[in-house]
Amino acid sequence: MGEAPVGDGKGAALTRRGLLVGIGAAGGAGAMYAAMGALGLAPSAQSKEFTAPRQGDFTLRGKGSAKVVILGAGVAGLTAAYELGKAGYDCTLLEAGQRAGGRNLTLRGGDRLTELNGPAQQVTLGEGGYFNAGPARIAPWMVTLDYCRELGIPIETFVNNNAAAYVHTNGRTTRARTARADMYGYVAELLAKATDLGALDKTLTKDDRDGLLEFLRRFGDLGPKLDYEGSDRRGFTKFPALDAGTPIPAPGTLHQVLAAGTGRAITNDFGYEQATPMFQPVGGMDAIVTRLQEAVGQDRIRTGAKVTKITTLDDGVEVVHTGGSVKADYCVAALPPHLLAKIPHNLGPQISAALATPVPIAAGKIGLEYGRRWWELEDRIYGGATETDLDITHIWYPSHGYHSERGLLVGYYNTEHEAELYGALTPEDRRRRALTQGKKIHGEKYRQNVLSSVSIAWERQEHIQGGWVRWPAFDSSFTLLQRPAGRVYFAGDWLTHLIAWQAGAMESARGAVTQLHQRVLQSP
Ligand code: PHE
Repeated sequence: MGEAPVGDGKGAALTRRGLLVGIGAAGGAGAMYAAMGALGLAPSAQSKEFTAPRQGDFTLRGKGSAKVVILGAGVAGLTAAYELGKAGYDCTLLEAGQRAGGRNLTLRGGDRLTELNGPAQQVTLGEGGYFNAGPARIAPWMVTLDYCRELGIPIETFVNNNAAAYVHTNGRTTRARTARADMYGYVAELLAKATDLGALDKTLTKDDRDGLLEFLRRFGDLGPKLDYEGSDRRGFTKFPALDAGTPIPAPGTLHQVLAAGTGRAITNDFGYEQATPMFQPVGGMDAIVTRLQEAVGQDRIRTGAKVTKITTLDDGVEVVHTGGSVKADYCVAALPPHLLAKIPHNLGPQISAALATPVPIAAGKIGLEYGRRWWELEDRIYGGATETDLDITHIWYPSHGYHSERGLLVGYYNTEHEAELYGALTPEDRRRRALTQGKKIHGEKYRQNVLSSVSIAWERQEHIQGGWVRWPAFDSSFTLLQRPAGRVYFAGDWLTHLIAWQAGAMESARGAVTQLHQRVLQSP
């Protein structure tokens, strides 16, 4: 921060620091803090940038940090504890499960995965193999990457779009590059011809038309007469080398291409959330949990402590759990809303109603470990995803460990109805079904060399019970819970517009921490 003079510039130049020292001497730290807010130097509820609480925030105020009980050691709870810990807050995390991390779960050989109303799975992935059963990809604009940087977690590219992967729709399998070339080609042809015939003359100037046509020729790789006649963008059965290669057979008609229904694969990464490049921590997503846990202190996390009652009091909060009770000055409730809604509390009926509003969504994934990376060897697919209209929805190819011996595919990643369908099956039947579906795309090799598999149905995870939630509307219930109820603050991805992203959990935790810290600093 520079020392910009304040005032009209006449007389002795008054610096901001000088002004603040004066105000601090005359009116105390509270007045100084308010003045800092007015000068834009202190975090306010409005400010976008997050400033982590600091030990030094207390020094002028003659008061200390507070005791905070955090419900849930998922990404939101851990982030809250981590940020509050920077200012010396005394945080205790109550975690109902046996491990921290919540939906950030990476499974490896030796792990055991239990499930509500279902058999437990013993994970038998080979040495070094892992399966990100929850979050698996991070967009570069997300705060998640800031935490990776801050916590020293190495990242690598997550391949979120691969021209060599397939689209499987209406019973047919096409390479993504082919589907894309054909859709772009025909769309470009139609629009170019309409433009050329003058159909858009009311909308376009002569220059507009020229500009549009020039673009459409490129976009669709159109011929001189604005026809789409196929293109080497579609790919080859034998790629060019000493000879020109063998292009794949010519495209179907416009009618055939539209009937193929491949659009889903083409638009998959158009959104700001899914745009390439995306990233993943090296070695497994749970590096984020591990590092946060280390920073927070393992001793602050109490596992096997399921919350049974939350009481906000004039001078603190009391939380009862299966292993006892905790009194603290404040509480950050970082549990899924549908589970919080079931816990008795004295926060009032409006809070109860708001917590019961978001609807949990089922989500499931299966990891299939193969003894041979046939997708690289035979299909030349290095990372990325095949999009399907089957109940498996997607197949993901690994974005790491290329050319090694073994590898793990995600054999389904589905939500809602399809996830519930797989979730209702035994692990063995999930695997069988996933292999039968994948075989439709990859052939018999899909069912060979499968060393092990493990599947998750998030709606059947005991202390989570959903992949994520959907708000019927981002209404007053949503905003109500972004504010404290008495001494209880709420946090989680479900309180942001980044639902189903760790970044949502982190942003929400930051919001709760900022509000809590300001309250502590301003409290008499
Ligand atoms: N974050 C999850 C994923 O990337 C779920 C999600 C998908 C969220 C698409 C938004 C958009 O798979």
